[in-house]
Amino acid sequence: MAFMRFDVFTLFPEALEPYLQSSILKRASERALVQFHVHNIRDWAADKHRVTDDEPYGGGGGMVMKAEPIFAAVESVVGTPPACPVILLTPQGKLFTQDVAHQLAGQPRLALIAGRYEGVDERVREHLVSEEISIGDYVLTGGELPALVLIDTITRLLPGVLGDPAATQKDSHASGLLEHPHYTRPADFRGWEVPEVLRSGDHARIERWRRERSLLRTWERRPDLLKTAKLAEEDDRFLEEIKREA
Ligand code: ADE
Repeated sequence: MAFMRFDVFTLFPEALEPYLQSSILKRASERALVQFHVHNIRDWAADKHRVTDDEPYGGGGGMVMKAEPIFAAVESVVGTPPACPVILLTPQGKLFTQDVAHQLAGQPRLALIAGRYEGVDERVREHLVSEEISIGDYVLTGGELPALVLIDTITRLLPGVLGDPAATQKDSHASGLLEHPHYTRPADFRGWEVPEVLRSGDHARIERWRRERSLLRTWERRPDLLKTAKLAEEDDRFLEEIKREA
């Protein structure tokens, strides 16, 4: 069975624990498919007040996370030099996508550093971190939620984690397209009916309908994705048709 280990370094371990101990992530760690280790950077602060941040050189206000406790924490847990990729979560990083998640899911172990305050001392970036990742073009108060986003996205790709082994192949973005719509019982809810084709039992028709809905939705909402999606001749014909109609 696949096995992956995450080591997260943060000043707010209590912010991560409830999510890691819920639902699919909880089940995956109980089944030993994955291990989550959350470390409080403050435990490696050397002085008696356990200071982890300080004023920036050059002034300007705000606080900067100090280099020493972060180096001490990461080196004592993952070794010197680090035995695995060390990722800093920051809005200045490379954008996290499903492709990046697939690449990282191939690693046996990842160290994640959640930054806080105005930033972290640049020497952490230069001499400890192997990769900087952003989850999107917006700024959070810290890297804790981004670390959970990476862990969640990567963990569900690991073999055995999801009940249906084919589930991740059907995901939005897995094929380069957005997913088709889903329905469950009742067939008629407040007069809004489930499309007839889905109740027809004709699997070829159902597959074609789903593919076309997926293409249509991608064209309407994320036309940029169509440039890189893998399309069959039939898909191209369908897209030509909807463009003509529009
Ligand atoms: N820390 C603050 N904002 C962030 C973002 N968008 N991605 C990763 N880390 C962050």
